[in-house]
Amino acid sequence: MAYSEAKVVFGGLIHIPIVIGVFWFIQGFILQRTKRKSSNSTASAQTAVKGTAAKAPAASKSTPPKKSAHADVPVNTYKPKTPFIGKVVENYSLLQKGAIGRVNHITFDLSGGEPPLKYVEGQSIGIIPAGEDAKGKPHKIRLYSIASTRHGDNFAGNTVSLCVRQLQYEKDGQTIDGVCSTYLCNISKGDKVKITGPVGKEMLLPDDEDANIIMLATGTGIAPMRAYLRRMFEPTEREKNKWNFKGKAWLFMGAPKTANLLYDSDFEHYQEKFPENLKYTKAISREQKNAKGGRMYIQDRVLENADKLFELIESEKTHIYLCGLKGMEPGIDEAMTAAAAAKGISWSELRPQLKKAGRWHVETY
Ligand code: FAD
Ligand code: A2P
Repeated sequence: MAYSEAKVVFGGLIHIPIVIGVFWFIQGFILQRTKRKSSNSTASAQTAVKGTAAKAPAASKSTPPKKSAHADVPVNTYKPKTPFIGKVVENYSLLQKGAIGRVNHITFDLSGGEPPLKYVEGQSIGIIPAGEDAKGKPHKIRLYSIASTRHGDNFAGNTVSLCVRQLQYEKDGQTIDGVCSTYLCNISKGDKVKITGPVGKEMLLPDDEDANIIMLATGTGIAPMRAYLRRMFEPTEREKNKWNFKGKAWLFMGAPKTANLLYDSDFEHYQEKFPENLKYTKAISREQKNAKGGRMYIQDRVLENADKLFELIESEKTHIYLCGLKGMEPGIDEAMTAAAAAKGISWSELRPQLKKAGRWHVETY
């Protein structure tokens, strides 16, 4: 059969609507499937949230913090290029006889700065150690959690205190001293120190006087907790801050030996004076044993107290603060998972909700 040019063109043109029709049919089919899929996943996300809501009412009920909350907290008043020059007021050991290592309480005078170097409980400052690194360059800053309240240890509002462990480790048969922690542990009264900051809004306390504060600290992770506890229970500090704390505070403190406990007598004293408001639980890893016969860590104490802890966490007024060794995070997570499960709560669902609600605060290093 012979084809004319017109016939070929006509034949081609007649296929166009068919091709378009098939295209629309396929596109419609794909669109419908995608819609069905997404509505299914939205529904399952809602079910998950609903399920969690049933299991963990506190977190879902709580109101997320307002965007403007903590907007007035000072940040980076002094930067590395133009640091504040503070003067050492005191530098003393926090350890008892027989303790492992070296941990010091160090206070700097901040008076005379323009602008003034102000901070609030839960923030950190940067320290630039004197001297130069191996390449002849100035040392980089290291961060340290502030251990004092905004009023300072002398309540005059012109000092800042730190709690510093000297880093020491063995390498190729040699003891290596950490640059900044050694510099800080060795400084003397009157020495001038380059300070930056303050930084950080992760570890701030809520304004609510009825809040419950659960604190999980290892070693120098106690620094921000000391500031919180002074704000809550130190008489002169309370007079100054007018923050009449009425909630429940629970400190879990991990140290290798009794002699390594930091600020222990202060916390014991607060617990004695405010038995309704403060509970102080210690995990002394090299002296006490956990249920499995291993070293007693704070996560073991969390498990022991799972019931009471989760009773507190169910309240939307409860905040949890975690500070110290980075390595403790998986252990704490595991303990919280088991402790939550005992109450029929899924920790993996609850934790992000607590975080979103501004009630889960972590600073580890
Ligand atoms: P560096 O001289 O900087 O040496 C540290 C380096 O040594 C490491 O980076 C690693 O490379 C190496 N190293 C360390 N250990 C070993 C090892 N076992 N084997 C081999 N190599 C090793 N510290 C406190 O004491 N108190 C605090 O309150 C505090 N708060 C902090 C808050 C924040 C937000 C952060 C981020 C850190 C905080 N730190 C705190 C830690 C502090 O910033 C320093 O990291 C610490 O003091 C060590 O600094 P350095 O200059 O002495 O050590
Ligand atoms: P240990 O060193 O006996 O294993 P410090 O900073 O004064 O050394 O105190 C840190 C405390 O935290 C010690 O009791 C230490 O125990 C403990 N610790 C070490 N690793 C972990 C971990 N993964 N989880 C919780 N606590 C830990």
